[in-house]
Amino acid sequence: MAKFTYPKIVPSEIEATPAEFGPGEFGASAHSRRAALAALAAGAGAALLAPGALAQPSAINTRSAAASPPPPSFRRNPRWSVSEAPNTWEEITTYNNFYEFGLDKADPSERSGSFKPRPWSVEIAGEAAKTGRYTLEDILKPHALEERIYRFRCVEAWSRVVPWLGIPLKDVLARFEPNSRAKFVEFTTLLDPKQFPGQRSRVIDWPYVEGLRIDEAMHPLTLLTVGLHGRWLPNQSGAPLRLIVPWKYGFKSIKSIVRIRFTERQPATSWNKAAPDEYGFFANVNPAVDHPRWSQAKERRLGGGLFGSRIDTLPFNGYANEVASLYRGLDLRRFY
Ligand code: MTE
Repeated sequence: MAKFTYPKIVPSEIEATPAEFGPGEFGASAHSRRAALAALAAGAGAALLAPGALAQPSAINTRSAAASPPPPSFRRNPRWSVSEAPNTWEEITTYNNFYEFGLDKADPSERSGSFKPRPWSVEIAGEAAKTGRYTLEDILKPHALEERIYRFRCVEAWSRVVPWLGIPLKDVLARFEPNSRAKFVEFTTLLDPKQFPGQRSRVIDWPYVEGLRIDEAMHPLTLLTVGLHGRWLPNQSGAPLRLIVPWKYGFKSIKSIVRIRFTERQPATSWNKAAPDEYGFFANVNPAVDHPRWSQAKERRLGGGLFGSRIDTLPFNGYANEVASLYRGLDLRRFY
C-alpha cells in the first residue's frame, strides 16, 4: 500500500485552518496531531488487528458483481468501540434520514425496496495519482472489515449507538495516492431520480454532496461503512457504501457514495449550501453551539421508551480525546 504523505495546508487556500488551541479545551487530553498523522503514514491502524483472524474479503470479490453477496466476515475492533449498548436493527433501520427516498423518517425503509445497490462502482477523482472508476469489489478487496460500535448524533438532536461494519477510510484513500494538493475530500451520492423518488423534487440541490478536510478524512475514526449489526447495509441506511464520521452531526455521514474526489479547495456541501447559517461545513457535535432553531445541549437517545431518554450531548459526540486536536486554534463558534 502506498505511503500517504500528509499535504501541507496553506492557510490562504482554505476557509478554516487547523491552527493551535490549548490542551484541556473540553477537558480533553488531545494527542498531538503530528503524532496521529505519523501513525497514519506508518499504517498503525492496520496493525491493530491480526490479519490471520480476519474476514475473507476474497469471498466478496469472487462473486458476480450483481449477485447478493455472502454475509460479511468481520472482527470487532474494541479500540474504537464504545461500551454503550447498541440500538436494535429495527431502531436503526426504520427511523432514517435519506431524503432521496422522502422526507419522512419512515420513507427510507418503506420506499427503498427496489433500490439496486449492486453492481456498484465508485469514481475516484481529483488530486491523486490513481484516479478512475473502481467496482465496489475493487474498493473493498484488500481490506478486512471491522465492527466498530459508535455513537451517532443527528443535528436534529436524536442519537443512537450503532455497530457499524467498515474499513478505516484512510486505508482506502491511501491506495489512490493523494498528492500534496489534496487538502479536502468530497463525497457524492448517486444521482438517479428513477431509483430515488425524492430526487424528483428539489428539496436540496441534488446530488447530495459532503466533504471533509483531508486530516479529518485520514483520522482513524472515520469509517467507510458497508454494514451494520453484522449484515450488509440495508438500502435505507446508505447501501452499499456510506461514510460514518462519529464526532460530527449525522448529515456529514453521506450515503450511497458514487464519487470520491480529492480537492485543493473546500468543497461546496449540500446542507451548507442550502442553509449556511444552520449547517456548517465542519458540523462537529458541540453542545455549546445551538442550532439557530433549537438547543444542541441534549439529545434524545432512541430506544429509551416512546420518546427516548434525554441525555447530555458531549463535545465531539464523546470523541474529544481523539479529535479535539484536529481543531486546535479554530473558533468552534464561527466554524460550526
Ligand atoms: N446521505 C444522503 N445521501 N441523503 C441524506 O438525506 N441524510 C443524512 C445522512 N446521510 C442523508 C445522508 C442525515 S441528516 C443523517 S442524520 C444520516 O444520514 C442518517 O443516517 P441513518 O438514517 O442511517 O441514521
